[in-house]
Amino acid sequence: MSSNALARPAEYTLATGAAAVRRLHVLHNVYSPVGRRVLLRAGLAKGMKVADFGCGVGVVSRMLAEMVGSSGSVTGIDVNGDQLEQARQWCASAGLNTTFIEASADNTGLERGVFDLAYCRFLLLHLTDPTACLREMREILKPGGILVVEDGDLTSAGSIPPTALNASADLFGRLGRARGLDYTLGANLYHLVTSAGFCDAGLEIHQPAIRQGENRNLLKWSVEEAAPALIDAGLITPAQLQRTLEEMQEATDNPGVVVLMPRMSLVWARKPNN
Ligand SMILES: C[S@@+](CC[C@H](N)C(=O)[O-])C[C@H]1O[C@@H](n2cnc3c(N)ncnc32)[C@H](O)[C@@H]1O
Repeated sequence: MSSNALARPAEYTLATGAAAVRRLHVLHNVYSPVGRRVLLRAGLAKGMKVADFGCGVGVVSRMLAEMVGSSGSVTGIDVNGDQLEQARQWCASAGLNTTFIEASADNTGLERGVFDLAYCRFLLLHLTDPTACLREMREILKPGGILVVEDGDLTSAGSIPPTALNASADLFGRLGRARGLDYTLGANLYHLVTSAGFCDAGLEIHQPAIRQGENRNLLKWSVEEAAPALIDAGLITPAQLQRTLEEMQEATDNPGVVVLMPRMSLVWARKPNN
């Protein structure tokens, strides 16, 4: 692949709009308890002006809007209009102080130097140039403003004991390489942030282990949504994928199997004061 091809924005691998809602709500159930705790530890407070980069269907935007209250505000940014439509519906129903804009994460057009906190989750690993997004986040923050970013290593997912659910790690690892993306980005997140000119950085890493309930479906649903991309990239045939998905469902439904979600890195930091 040429370096020009790598520099182009990558086509998003997973479903968008109404088809994305179920998976992104489950993803939020799995990851938001630790995310919320880290946001508070990083300094998120009532009245703050927050930007949620790659906001998807707005599940985190709504949580952030509830946390900053009516004296604060949240601007959600996504490149995909169908995601934003879902986000607007999800947040309007709760009467929250949210605005959504359609823009690329590395060139939002947002006012410079006015936000108290910039946030993203599971965005940077979908970008061919994640540093350009971090640079944009730094630009829109006030001096001393807070950055909180969460991203996973998709090749760390699987199950205990190992089952067909471990196919998710292998397939996403190979798909990332085929698309010029780094689906292991979470493992390097702390260094990515510190290299992008932020200071006072902290790091927490955790890996949810799911024993029961609907959240167990996340790995299988993610592979299902990525099916067109996996087949287009020639990584698996439709028949092989169908069989893999059936085996993943069997493992998901087996109460003796613990489902391991991608290991998540959470990094918080500040924009330097000068
Ligand atoms: C996995 S979803 C995560 C959504 C949300 N952050 C969450 O955790 O629920 C990734 C989102 O990033 C968006 N996205 C991908 N590339 C983007 C870009 N260059 N600029 C802005 N958003 C982008 C996709 O449209 C998608 O909604």
